[in-house]
Amino acid sequence: MLNDSPPPVHGPPHPLALDLIERLSDHPGARVLEIGSGSGRNTRALVAAGLRVCSLPPDERCIAALSTHALLHGTPASLAELLDRIAAALEPKAPLFATFGSVFDSRYGTGDEREPHVFVPRDGDEAGVAHVYFDEQRLRAILTPRFTIESLREVEVDRIAGDWAHPTAPLHGAVHWFVVAHARSIARE
Ligand SMILES: C[S@@+](CC[C@H](N)C(=O)[O-])C[C@H]1O[C@@H](n2cnc3c(N)ncnc32)[C@H](O)[C@@H]1O
Repeated sequence: MLNDSPPPVHGPPHPLALDLIERLSDHPGARVLEIGSGSGRNTRALVAAGLRVCSLPPDERCIAALSTHALLHGTPASLAELLDRIAAALEPKAPLFATFGSVFDSRYGTGDEREPHVFVPRDGDEAGVAHVYFDEQRLRAILTPRFTIESLREVEVDRIAGDWAHPTAPLHGAVHWFVVAHARSIARE
């Protein structure tokens, strides 16, 4: 599910993918973990930049990780478990470039509330899919056991989300956290 078969439509890579490619410009051939590839728009950019793309669980630790518009799905508990797996798949101090849902997103509070800060749309392209939203305090709290935070910022992303991801209901008022963080040392199981 996390690296599913690509739908046919690709868009430009996510800005965080471009930031990561720039960060790794001195590491040709480096192994990058991608979580939630969707249309493959970021995968294509990483490969075109000469990087090697891995998915969970990689057979060797990776030098960086990228996840855009995927760590929005689930619950705090499922994300914590996924963040553990991501951190364990990375070299110590390797950067994670990732997006998370913000409580300032217009979808926060809509649909069915499964648990605090988790809402499930009743209709549209993502009907039935749990979405989890963070304020800064809770985002820092879920990241810091596993990562040291380099930067956090909230960004309006209506024009960044791929149209293919929401073909019948384009986003209005979507706000995501853009995060750069570094893996703490976590032993692999
Ligand atoms: C909107 S796509 C984003 C794709 C790509 N990273 C991008 O930015 O274009 C969402 C991705 O999240 C993944 N995903 C992760 N957890 C999920 C969940 N609980 N339910 C549905 N999709 C989930 C999907 O498999 C999919 O690859």
